[in-house]
Amino acid sequence: MSSLYSCENVSHSYQQGPQVFPALHDVNLDIKAGEFCLIMGPSGSGKSTLLNLLGLIEPLQKGRISFQGQDLQTIDEAKKNEVRRFQLGFIFQSFHLFDVLTAAENVEFFLTRQGVPASERKERVRKALEAVDLGMQKDKRPQDMSGGQRQRVAIARALAKDPAVILADEPTASLDQDTGRSILQLLKNLAAQGRTIIISSHDPLARDYASRVLYLKDGHLQAGGSADAH
Ligand SMILES: Nc1ncnc2c1ncn2[C@@H]1O[C@H](COP(=O)(O)OP(=O)(O)OP(=O)(O)O)[C@@H](O)[C@H]1O
Ligand SMILES: [Mg+2]
Repeated sequence: MSSLYSCENVSHSYQQGPQVFPALHDVNLDIKAGEFCLIMGPSGSGKSTLLNLLGLIEPLQKGRISFQGQDLQTIDEAKKNEVRRFQLGFIFQSFHLFDVLTAAENVEFFLTRQGVPASERKERVRKALEAVDLGMQKDKRPQDMSGGQRQRVAIARALAKDPAVILADEPTASLDQDTGRSILQLLKNLAAQGRTIIISSHDPLARDYASRVLYLKDGHLQAGGSADAH
């Protein structure tokens, strides 16, 4: 099977004024559809940067990334937006929820942008919130929810989109062990149905659920970048 993602010599750095902060060095990585990839590594090792590049959030600076056989450098912004809107579900480390919207409205937001009809939206919102055990919290705003509940709203928002790929930056960081396990099991089930799951985590529990574990250290991907090795 061909790779869903293929990264070749991807390097990335952040510039702030005269200072350059390197984040990734020559990362080579292939990810196949249906994999549940876990990216581990110490704080500052480049996990979020890699996820942001795979999620088309951070523009590619150096190297090559192809998604579904298409070189991300060569596709135009409209096509990238289409990929973000329909193919990718991103769960951010800092959630990025809208404070003025309720949990249900937050989940519904991207469905509206996808053009999902109102009748179907309600059902998808309900199912996604139930999947993360937040059915009772649906009319609350993020400020009236706990950190873990906010994290689960962000997860529900990605689930409701029903994307081919879910990218999640530390999706269990604010959750207790049991809730974390149920979220990891949910992601594992989605991978078993053919979705591709790519998450970063410091949580050793996550290793029990992933089909593949990648390690980043100081922006270098340790052995294991080739999907064929798994
Ligand atoms: N906007 C930015 N400006 C400057 N440096 C940045 C920026 N974002 C990330 N970095 C730097 O890039 C490196 C990689 O950061 P990144 O956020 O990818 O790490 P991480 O592995 O996700 O860490 P954590 O586990 O703490 O979330 C770090 O040294 C970080 O300080
Ligand atoms: Mg991070």
